[in-house]
Amino acid sequence: MSAHKPLLATVLGQRQERPPIWIMRQAGRYLPEYRETRARSKGFLDLCYTPDLAVEVSLQPLRRFELDAAILFSDILVIPDALGQSVRFTEGEGPVLEPLTVQTIATLKPERALDHLAPVFETLKRLRAAIAPEQALIGFCGSPWTVATYMLGGKGSSDQAAARLFALQHPQAFSALIDILVETSIDYLAAQFAAGADVVQLFESWALNLDEVAFAAQVIEPNRRIVEGLRKKVPNAPVIGFPRGAAGMIRAYADATQVNMVGLDYATPLNFAKSNLSPLLGVQGNLDPLRLVAGGEQMEDRARDIIAAFADRPHVFNLGHGIVPQTPIEHVARLVELVKEG
Ligand code: CP3
Repeated sequence: MSAHKPLLATVLGQRQERPPIWIMRQAGRYLPEYRETRARSKGFLDLCYTPDLAVEVSLQPLRRFELDAAILFSDILVIPDALGQSVRFTEGEGPVLEPLTVQTIATLKPERALDHLAPVFETLKRLRAAIAPEQALIGFCGSPWTVATYMLGGKGSSDQAAARLFALQHPQAFSALIDILVETSIDYLAAQFAAGADVVQLFESWALNLDEVAFAAQVIEPNRRIVEGLRKKVPNAPVIGFPRGAAGMIRAYADATQVNMVGLDYATPLNFAKSNLSPLLGVQGNLDPLRLVAGGEQMEDRARDIIAAFADRPHVFNLGHGIVPQTPIEHVARLVELVKEG
């Protein structure tokens, strides 16, 4: 018998007495030991592709806090890199990619992607051996639309206009790109399970700014195909979907994709989630990361309200988006303690 993992059990639909907790971007710049390891690496992608370093930074938050899961240290943009697109992470600027065109989409190399990602699977294998049996190991990838916004826009943007316009003006080339991302993501996630992941999260960080027709086509359908394709390879694969900004479309997303659990961003009202989502559907979230920066009573009150709102359904405590670099470590310690002990 394998050990009871509260976080995995919750994703699979079993409510726990206290919600298990992990934190999006839990390995990151708010930790001085991360900044130190990062400084020793040759660059951000080198950190992602060097198992010694990636394992080290994945474990750093677990040494400090009583978290219920480790998340693979990597990035959603290793997929464009593995497909042969130029991806660079520049200090202070975020990711910079050579934007794809109708012509260059055809030159992507899905056949080499998995070989290129071999170090990621090695990192997962080593993490599996390093963490406690009760801790879950989370794998992930970016969802096709979100990854495509970077591949087409070349960088982050507040409105994803480049990708939205490309999808409307070049529907065939766009759907060829989405097909490549869907197929590559299925193989990538199946290989993550084979390497020891217990559960995977689909990061759809840019599910906002789409009208309902585009949301159905760009967000719901590709995520649905990934879950379906993945479960053909890994039966009953546990999946958390995080469609950030889905707002009124969250129910349609959950129903159509058949993810086990939905991640709620911090703008999602608790009562809206309770009344719109099936009481059997698990939820993850959704504390505003800035409440964690400010700390104190407002953070504790809101965390308690979130726990109370979801006390009757499977709930994994988390932030409503990634932790930010200026977060004080003592506030994280207090939050974890509160979630564990009330
Ligand atoms: O959660 C974890 O601890 C695992 C690691 C992880 C990272 N990125 C490490 C990272 C995960 C799960 C991600 C996901 C990711 N990457 C998303 C989806 C989640 C979200 O936050 O919306 C997105 C959109 C990206 C793309 C990306 N990577 C951007 C836009 C940036 C630059 C902005 C920033 O926060 O610096 C990154 C860089 C990145 N990915 C860092 C880390 C720790 C910081 C880079 C550094 O150390 O210099």
